[in-house]
Amino acid sequence: MSDPGFAQWQARELARIEAMLTQALAAQDPQDLMAAMRHAVLDGGKRLRPLLVLATAQAVWGARASVPDWADGLALRAACAVELIHAYSLVHDDMPCMDNDVLRRGKPTVHVAFGEATALLAGDALQTLAFELLAPQADPAEPTVALACVSVLAKASGHVGMAGGQAIDLASVGQLIDASRLKRMHDLKTGALLRASVAMGAICAQCAPQERAALSAWGDALGYAFQVVDDILDVTSTTDVLGKTAGKDEAHDKPTVVSTLGLEGAKALAQTLHQQAHAALGQLTLAPGHHLGTITDWVIHRIN
Ligand code: IPE
Ligand code: IPE
Ligand code: MG
Ligand code: MG
Ligand code: MG
Repeated sequence: MSDPGFAQWQARELARIEAMLTQALAAQDPQDLMAAMRHAVLDGGKRLRPLLVLATAQAVWGARASVPDWADGLALRAACAVELIHAYSLVHDDMPCMDNDVLRRGKPTVHVAFGEATALLAGDALQTLAFELLAPQADPAEPTVALACVSVLAKASGHVGMAGGQAIDLASVGQLIDASRLKRMHDLKTGALLRASVAMGAICAQCAPQERAALSAWGDALGYAFQVVDDILDVTSTTDVLGKTAGKDEAHDKPTVVSTLGLEGAKALAQTLHQQAHAALGQLTLAPGHHLGTITDWVIHRIN
């Protein structure tokens, strides 16, 4: 899909995201905890989830004459909030009691660099910082929309979302699970935060219910596709390219799309989900020049 404006848009939005995350993590005390939190969040990561929030809001807004400052500001805070939850989930996912990984985003994992207790606390503090960012601020029009985002992000992070999916993942080590349980695990552990990113973008843009439904179908396909591709890359890519240890799923006896369907089956599923995602976008009337199609292609064809 041709999208000549994407690189420029991405660079501009990444600059806003990095600036807000850096500011949110600027405190120096307690020194070790703050250093661990910055290590987990800054200098790395594709920032897919925050870009999804902003791209979705802007795809809905595009046609509107003017976007209120508070709504644009809230979308940026929601973007950073979901990245903080994601970063916390990675810190805990890498710990010895979970996946026991030593490399993340091309750097030592947080527990390797700072110790397990600090990694645990860094994850905890990143999670609460996410909700601090989302809490309503001054504009009187903001609270209803901000609280809707709080509700979406809280659900997507907890037992019916990421944490629940991680529990299924851990309980399934060494087991043969069928395709439907695998899908449920992936929809929760990874899909939930991607769907929440799309949903928060739609909420900030105050989009109509019909558009919400089509965007949500897009988020469903994209969220599952993202973890399908993660499972594929674990067996087809290298540690250098991924910035995390390749081949670890098989080494840890994790049920994945590849172990369940085989590599070719996993690639076919990624293609099907790619088409489903584009079909959902086809149901929408979005702003000309929106980036949702390009992001869909990126999720499928990414190399890391
Ligand atoms: C990795 O997510 C963990 C999964 C949910 C599969 P990403 O691939 O988005 O990781 P970063 O943020 O780019 O490091
Ligand atoms: C992680 O899934 C999902 C999370 C909620 C963090 P993985 O365990 O496959 O992620 P990676 O491969 O370590 O990034
Ligand atoms: Mg894991
Ligand atoms: Mg892992
Ligand atoms: Mg993985």
